[in-house]
Amino acid sequence: MNNISVIGIGKLGLCFALTLGRAEYNIVGVDISEEYVNLINNKTLKSSEENVENYLKNSKNFIAITDLSKAVQHSNILFVVVATPSLPNGRYDHTQVDSLVSKLILLGKQEQTKHLVVCCTTMPEYCDSIQLRLNEYNYVVSYNPEFIAQGTILKNQEKPDMVLIGEGNEEAGTLLENIYLKHTTNNPLIHRMTRTEAELCKISLNCFLTTKIAYANMIGDIALRTNCNPDRILSAIGSDSRIGKKYIGYGFGFGGPCFPRDNRALAIFANDKGINALISKASDQSNDIHLNYQIEQFVKQNPNKDIPVEFDYVTYKKESVLLTESQQLKFALQLQNLGYEVIIKDTREEVTQQIKGMFHGK
Ligand SMILES: NC(=O)c1ccc[n+]([C@@H]2O[C@H](COP(=O)([O-])OP(=O)(O)OC[C@H]3O[C@@H](n4cnc5c(N)ncnc54)[C@H](O)[C@@H]3O)[C@@H](O)[C@H]2O)c1
Repeated sequence: MNNISVIGIGKLGLCFALTLGRAEYNIVGVDISEEYVNLINNKTLKSSEENVENYLKNSKNFIAITDLSKAVQHSNILFVVVATPSLPNGRYDHTQVDSLVSKLILLGKQEQTKHLVVCCTTMPEYCDSIQLRLNEYNYVVSYNPEFIAQGTILKNQEKPDMVLIGEGNEEAGTLLENIYLKHTTNNPLIHRMTRTEAELCKISLNCFLTTKIAYANMIGDIALRTNCNPDRILSAIGSDSRIGKKYIGYGFGFGGPCFPRDNRALAIFANDKGINALISKASDQSNDIHLNYQIEQFVKQNPNKDIPVEFDYVTYKKESVLLTESQQLKFALQLQNLGYEVIIKDTREEVTQQIKGMFHGK
């Protein structure tokens, strides 16, 4: 099976399409905007994501289209990578996936079984609900989230730490396993389970990471209050192999488009099931407490508000252009509210556009 379709070729989907294309699959990517699709086909799309422009320029077996029916004809494997933003109540908004499923239903019952593989972040049990809607149309729904970091998406897709497959049935699981064995270059561990197990696993893994970051910052705050060095303490703790050094540094709290919302979604889903997920809630609160402590420390150490405060970046991490839940941005804005002149030195266009009007400093 050499043909694959990717529905939704935004930040993540485009990278996935390019990665699969490099493994010599024939890829059709679908998106809704004609203009965006043209930029991809002309290979003139600008991307801040490492290597995307380069991979796109060199891609041979990837075309973008807007016609969903052609993508469905092209392959029996349809990866879905449309957006699932968070609702104000913290649940994922599945509207784009729901509307895609409605469009698939309008295309009628398929002669050959179609494997619909949802890569979006979803509330656990959601994929079971779309399988029910698609049962009579000959679709098998699987869930296959990606664990990637902004700025290194392509690298993470080629060399994932592990692969999570929430299989709709055994055939779907084996099919996905073979695709991963072909396009990854590091022979990753592959975990096969049910759709709901994989949905729960995806957000639970991120909950663990937020907990680890919140813990490290809590210990660091205590250390500073005690005139101790946070880095020495955390480095020693992280060197215990049961704990590990990753995400155990002292610094800004967690932010970005995945960690905070996955962590909150887990608490909400747990609540639906009558479980009080105190650990998720505590990491979230601890992140805010840490930010307040960082501001208090800064003000104590820098009482002269006439000296401008410079930031190299206020995105949630240096390599990214995203401001989503950026603790650095919250920190800079709060200092400005306290009367400091704040100067942002980041000149990346995507960033300057987003922060326009937020800061009064140079
Ligand atoms: N970007 C990341 O770093 C990241 C990381 C982990 C998980 N995810 C998950 O991946 C999913 C996609 O995220 P993203 O950041 O790539 O979103 P995005 O907004 O960049 O891309 C989504 C794309 O889907 C397109 N789309 C919407 N409806 C469509 C339809 N009916 N048919 C075809 N295309 C359609 C949009 O036009 C857009 O280009 C989300 O569920 C997100 O939670 C993203």
